Amino acid sequence: MTTAPQKVQDAELGILAPLPEMDDVQFRQWTELLEQRTGTVLPPERKSFLVTSLGLRMREIGCECYQEYYDRLNSGVNGALEWSTLVDRLTVHETRFFRHSSSMELVREQVSKTIRRGVGRAKSIHAWSVGCSTGEEAYTLAMVIDQSIRAAGARDAYFGVLGSDISQPSLQVGRRGIYNVRRVKDIDADVREEYFEALDDGRFQVHAELRKRVCFARLNILDIEREPLAEMDIIYCQNVLIYFDRARRKQIVERLAERLRPGGLLILGSGELVNWRHADMDKVQCAHTLAFQRRVLAGNAEA
Ligand SMILES: C[S@@+](CC[C@H](N)C(=O)[O-])C[C@H]1O[C@@H](n2cnc3c(N)ncnc32)[C@H](O)[C@@H]1O
Repeated sequence: MTTAPQKVQDAELGILAPLPEMDDVQFRQWTELLEQRTGTVLPPERKSFLVTSLGLRMREIGCECYQEYYDRLNSGVNGALEWSTLVDRLTVHETRFFRHSSSMELVREQVSKTIRRGVGRAKSIHAWSVGCSTGEEAYTLAMVIDQSIRAAGARDAYFGVLGSDISQPSLQVGRRGIYNVRRVKDIDADVREEYFEALDDGRFQVHAELRKRVCFARLNILDIEREPLAEMDIIYCQNVLIYFDRARRKQIVERLAERLRPGGLLILGSGELVNWRHADMDKVQCAHTLAFQRRVLAGNAEA
């Protein structure tokens, strides 16, 4: 056993204490908390990820056992603040610009159809990137919509993109819109030229004009029904549902579908929801992309 003076000496030498062991009961307790609060299902194969993530955070705040940390997380305002830090560590944020090209082609088509029909409110396009991580997906939508509006010659058309995520640090990156060269290197040079500004430190920032079109908000996907979001033209939700179980996926997708205007498009990641049907939604026939369109009811001329 490590004695107290030994611990101090180790800390002075920068030797990190080993991560505490996690038994099955503790693993269940933590995975249930995560699932209840975020919907994410953490399978036993990812136990080491959980142990490492919790352990690192516990070291940072000087917490030595899981139960103490669990109790801290469940106590009042400080617990809520601590949770917002931890949730960022326990969720996967992998993303990139123009991640799924065939889905973005669908976005292009949707925008030009909307513009062609363009009377009244149809001249505005509202898109939502659900689980937007550090913003790359939301900005990609903004670039594609802007290009499509311009290609259609509809200079007076308005568009806005909402990027939402549960992770506050990710949203902060999105709001700044600054990315290092590795993250922008695969964007076509002309697109990069048009929508990014090279900063003196070698990084790239999304142009202010485009940033103005994108807003970021913290939103837990499990709480969508409380949000006053409606009449979306495009809802884009990829690589988020894969972390949820099937029942939860269906529930979320149903709520997202309600947020579309008639004719609006819901774009998911291919294979992320099999055999889903909804009375108001038609599956879009498109290779490599899973998308559904909200039915236009007879008499709804504007859609
Ligand atoms: C793998 S990233 C996907 C990013 C982007 N959609 C893409 O495909 O490139 C998954 C994102 O979902 C977010 N997320 C996980 N659970 C969530 C929840 N309950 N509510 C909102 N966002 C959540 C994570 O914080 C993470 O940023």
